[in-house]
Amino acid sequence: MSGGRDQRPDQGRVFDELVDFFDAMARSRWYGPLLQDFAVWAAGDLPPGGRVLDVGCGPGHLLLALAPRFDEAVGLDISPGMLDRAAANARAAGLERIRWVQGDAARLPFADGTFDLAVSSLVLFLLDDPAAAAAELARVTAPGGRAAVLVPSNLCSPDSAAGLARRRGFQGFDAESLVQWSRVAARRRRDDPESLAHLLESAGLEAVDIWPRLEGLALLARGRRPGGGTGGKSGGGPAGEPGVGPGVGPGGGETGGR
Ligand SMILES: C[S@@+](CC[C@H](N)C(=O)[O-])C[C@H]1O[C@@H](n2cnc3c(N)ncnc32)[C@H](O)[C@@H]1O
Repeated sequence: MSGGRDQRPDQGRVFDELVDFFDAMARSRWYGPLLQDFAVWAAGDLPPGGRVLDVGCGPGHLLLALAPRFDEAVGLDISPGMLDRAAANARAAGLERIRWVQGDAARLPFADGTFDLAVSSLVLFLLDDPAAAAAELARVTAPGGRAAVLVPSNLCSPDSAAGLARRRGFQGFDAESLVQWSRVAARRRRDDPESLAHLLESAGLEAVDIWPRLEGLALLARGRRPGGGTGGKSGGGPAGEPGVGPGVGPGGGETGGR
């Protein structure tokens, strides 16, 4: 792990207490498959190689899924405890070459345009200034590269999460973590497709498309950083891929029965 350990240490310590919870959640029946799908969809048709960044990487599971198709992979988190767990998970997966950096999503310690893909999963909704973090995500994305986020939607509530858990037969930690996530989302921030598209477009991304998942309780979004002469690699996706436009209502684009 590298990077300054002095950045917002209090907030980092708060998340240190939650390492076990988020590590287990990333392996749960509702979030594990969603993270894997997010990795595939976010990288989409980007050519193999290049650099990938995961902002607020937590225990690192999204980056473990992405790293094999990139030359360089960097996970950033404010919590040293999360980074230690991410490094241990990477060692266990034989992915020691991933670099783990402590830092703040609102002030990323990377030059403009460093990454071909910058992702962030279940982080923006926790931040006091999600627009600043989205702008940073876009800034460090290379022209023609892609940024992608996963957030809770405005349909996400303890009632809707409990209903989803019931319908899909989630029990124990699987059900509890889903409802717990919805409680935090209800207290913090939930987006509809329009507000999420606006957040990413205001950050400087274009060709934003959105994929509602978990019966619309979660939204995946990806956009392209203008420039780079790729003529719009992000956005459309390969034929048959379930990306939908930002105007499509929540719940309208989910496939795969998850
Ligand atoms: C809900 S967890 C998600 C972890 C991981 N992205 C995942 O999907 O499993 C939120 C993560 O964001 C990190 N985080 C919170 N505030 C942050 C900030 N200002 N800068 C960087 N990371 C932050 C937390 O330490 C935690 O690891």
